[in-house]
Amino acid sequence: MKIFRTVKETQAFAEKMKREGKTIGLCPTMGALHEGHMTLMRAARAACDIVIASVFVNPTQFGPTEDYDAYPRRFEEDCKKLEAEGVDAVFHPEPSEMYPDGYCTYVNVDGDITHKLCGAQRPIHFRGVATVVTKLMNITRADEAFFGQKDAQQVVVVCRFVSDLNLPVHVNMVPICREENGLARSSRNVYLSPEERKAALILSQSLKKAKVAYEAGEKDVETLKKIVSDSIQTEPIASIDYVDLFSFPDLKPMTMVNKEALLAIAVKINKIRLIDNIILGAK
Ligand code: PAF
Repeated sequence: MKIFRTVKETQAFAEKMKREGKTIGLCPTMGALHEGHMTLMRAARAACDIVIASVFVNPTQFGPTEDYDAYPRRFEEDCKKLEAEGVDAVFHPEPSEMYPDGYCTYVNVDGDITHKLCGAQRPIHFRGVATVVTKLMNITRADEAFFGQKDAQQVVVVCRFVSDLNLPVHVNMVPICREENGLARSSRNVYLSPEERKAALILSQSLKKAKVAYEAGEKDVETLKKIVSDSIQTEPIASIDYVDLFSFPDLKPMTMVNKEALLAIAVKINKIRLIDNIILGAK
């Protein structure tokens, strides 16, 4: 597996692969890789000739009070996991390689889709994501890009700018990868103490309750949201950032679930903010 630190060498590799007629799959990550990331690698491996993973904790998507410095960094372990999945190359730049002195260009998805859910609490987050993902797609000459459903709003935002900017990349959403107990896998789970890890199960359990109610015929959005909120509130160390439901993938408000819809939550377990979601009404 090749490890690239610079844009130039990554571009040279991607150009060579393209000249050989190979398709390139990009899996953007911030490292601290877990089984959820591996499902992205496997999807890319199955669909593309060449798989490039990026491991880059992107400073522009963290707000000033967020966990950029503390974000887990485990590059050596990450490389072992990527190699075991047959990834062809890893792009692992320094922040100064991605944002050199004088850098001043950002991709701003300036629509309603970035101002709700995680965008309401994290005002610059999606500008940072859109900027870095655009750069990664360009650097790796990706034909296909792979993102997890856990960050469903991120997938919506990526699809939006890929379409708006006519980028020649197909975006793939890979289903949420959960532990056996239901906890959605996340790099931030490493922050959880054993007690918090147990409390964090309330996220998937509350969504499951809403799913059961939906499948039994409950279509009223406020009722479904209340089922989730009431359930989360039974956990003493959990506090709700948001419980919301929008049509999917356009993220429009709804009163009744009469088409595909995203039921999404952000919950703090003590100080650790976790997200989870389910898609209702999927065909
Ligand atoms: O989902 C993530 O880990 C990040 O937002 C991404 C897509 C790698 C961009 O930094």
